[in-house]
Amino acid sequence: MASSTMHAVGVAQYGAIANLQSREVPKPSKPTGREMLVQVKAISVNPIDMKVRAGTYDDPPDYYERVKSLLQEPPHFHIIGYDGAGIVLETGPDVKYFKPGNEIFYLANPVKQGTYAEQVLVDERHAGHKPGCVDFVQAAAMPLTYATAYESLVNRLEIKEGEKAAILIINGGGGMGSIASQIARYVCKLPVVITTASRPETIAYTKKMGATHVVNHREDIVKQIRALNLPADTPLKYAYITSRTEQYLFPIAEVIAPFGKICSIVQAKFDMYGSQMMGKSLTFSWCWLASGAYHHYVNDQEEKHHDWYEQLGQYLGDGTIKCHLMQRLKATAEGIREAHRILDAGTAIGKMALGVDEPGLEEAFC
Ligand SMILES: NC(=O)c1ccc[n+]([C@@H]2O[C@H](COP(=O)([O-])OP(=O)(O)OC[C@H]3O[C@@H](n4cnc5c(N)ncnc54)[C@H](OP(=O)(O)O)[C@@H]3O)[C@@H](O)[C@H]2O)c1
Repeated sequence: MASSTMHAVGVAQYGAIANLQSREVPKPSKPTGREMLVQVKAISVNPIDMKVRAGTYDDPPDYYERVKSLLQEPPHFHIIGYDGAGIVLETGPDVKYFKPGNEIFYLANPVKQGTYAEQVLVDERHAGHKPGCVDFVQAAAMPLTYATAYESLVNRLEIKEGEKAAILIINGGGGMGSIASQIARYVCKLPVVITTASRPETIAYTKKMGATHVVNHREDIVKQIRALNLPADTPLKYAYITSRTEQYLFPIAEVIAPFGKICSIVQAKFDMYGSQMMGKSLTFSWCWLASGAYHHYVNDQEEKHHDWYEQLGQYLGDGTIKCHLMQRLKATAEGIREAHRILDAGTAIGKMALGVDEPGLEEAFC
């Protein structure tokens, strides 16, 4: 008889990386509605994983209130992880895009049990068919960063394809910047994509991932951007902040064109007073990928996420977008702790992902 339990990695108490432990927990319940039960083949790590694990996640202020039942009720264990790739085992009664046996990549619901487990429940609206040109580990690296960057650039900044405009992307070498720069250059087809990076390896990487110009975020970015002398017919209309919003907002407001748009995905406390935000009639927007689902906001946006993942599969297939996986690890408790240590150091380049079939003696999620 099939076992009713599985191995998973998570925390019984939020805190240090050492709190990430393997446990034997009940397998997920039968999928309902548009849920699918998935056999996990690979996961990737993102900064949200670290923040949730540490107990410091504050994108929505009531996050820990919303997930408190995970620790208060059996199994008293919060399985971390949002990105994944795997095989559909069973579909809920309302699933229309997938069937058992399909190979998929997906984003798990941040208020439910996560992807660092042998099996996970996933909503089909947050999944796409895994394209054949990438393996499970590469596929698991993509969903969260691609969908966030797409939502930010296309829906929040409202960049029009082929516009004669420039964008500035803060932190071009990170997981987010390395996909946002490709969307800006090859999907939105902007002629000028300025990114920031500070080390030779991140500078080289961001150029490979679509940057037309790179400035150093450890030096005066206002001076460096002015020195680029962008042509008058290609104004800096857009800025995308993927690191330290409070540090970059004033300099960006200084160099962006009047009526420009700035989007940030990094929570921060800051004051716009004293900046050029009003003087230039600038628009500032946040982007948090989970906003619709988290607030049960009913519109067509959730359905579109599925379309984005299917389109990403096509972009990967035809070479429009390159997978930004830079490091592969085995999906064990120690592999996951190692990935958190690397992310914590703030020096990650592109993405790290962990596969259940990567070489190593330990069993997956043990
Ligand atoms: N709102 C959302 O829905 C959402 C979704 C995804 C991610 N996020 C957030 O986006 C942020 C970035 O995520 P990520 O995965 O791209 O991070 P990441 O991969 O960990 O970024 C690593 C890079 O950060 C750069 N960096 C370090 N200090 C910096 C600074 N002071 N200024 C600019 N860059 C700096 C480093 O580049 P150098 O070595 O070149 O300095 C490093 O290579 C995280 O805070 C994450 O939580 C939000």
